[in-house]
Amino acid sequence: MRASTVFATLAATAAATPVAIRAADYQWDVTEWDAGCNNDDCSYEFQITGAATGDYPARPAFSAACQGASHDGNIATQYAPCTIKGDGVKGTLVSRLNKPAELLGSRTVVPIQVSFQFADLTQDNTYWNYTGAANTTFNRGGFEPLSFTIKPTESFGIA
Ligand SMILES: *[C@@H]1O[C@H](CO)[C@@H](O)[C@H](O)[C@H]1NC(C)=O
Ligand SMILES: *[C@@H]1O[C@H](CO)[C@@H](O)[C@H](O)[C@H]1NC(C)=O
Repeated sequence: MRASTVFATLAATAAATPVAIRAADYQWDVTEWDAGCNNDDCSYEFQITGAATGDYPARPAFSAACQGASHDGNIATQYAPCTIKGDGVKGTLVSRLNKPAELLGSRTVVPIQVSFQFADLTQDNTYWNYTGAANTTFNRGGFEPLSFTIKPTESFGIA
C-alpha cells in the first residue's frame, strides 16, 4: 500500500497515528551484497544493519541477513523473510528484487527493496513500517561483494 493511501485511511480513523515520512535522516547499510544467475537459478544475499534512532518514532537497532532466489530464470520479486540476529528486535524484515533488471554494459542492474516493520518501543498496539530500495548489480563471479545504503522512502504507522 502506498503511504498516501495509508494516510487517507488513517485520517478516517480516530485512534490512528500517522507519521511523517523522514527519509532524509534514516538509512540502512548493506554489506556483502552478492547476486547472480547460474542458468535458471538466480539468487542474491546480503547483510543489513540499521542504527537505533531516538526521535519519534524511536527505531530499534538491528542486524540481519537477507537472501532470495528464483529457479525460473527470472529475478526473485517475492518478498522473502530476512533473519534478524539476536532476539531484541520485535519486528520483521523482508527483501525482494524489483523490476526492471536492466543490462548496462556487461552488468545487470536491479533494484533491491527492503521493508522493516517493528513494534513501537513506547506504546502497545502500535507498529511502524519503512520500505526503501536501491539499485545494485549482479556481481557474482569474480567481482567484489558490494556495500551500499538504502534510504527508506515510504513509511507509515498503525496505532
Ligand atoms: C510494510 O508494509 C507494506 C505495505 O503494506 C507490506 O507490503 C510489507 O510487507 C510491510 N513490511 C513488513 C516487513 O511486513
Ligand atoms: C534505479 O535506476 C533507475 C534508472 O536510472 C531509476 O529510474 C530509479 O529511480 C533508481 N532506483 C532507485 C531506488 O534509486
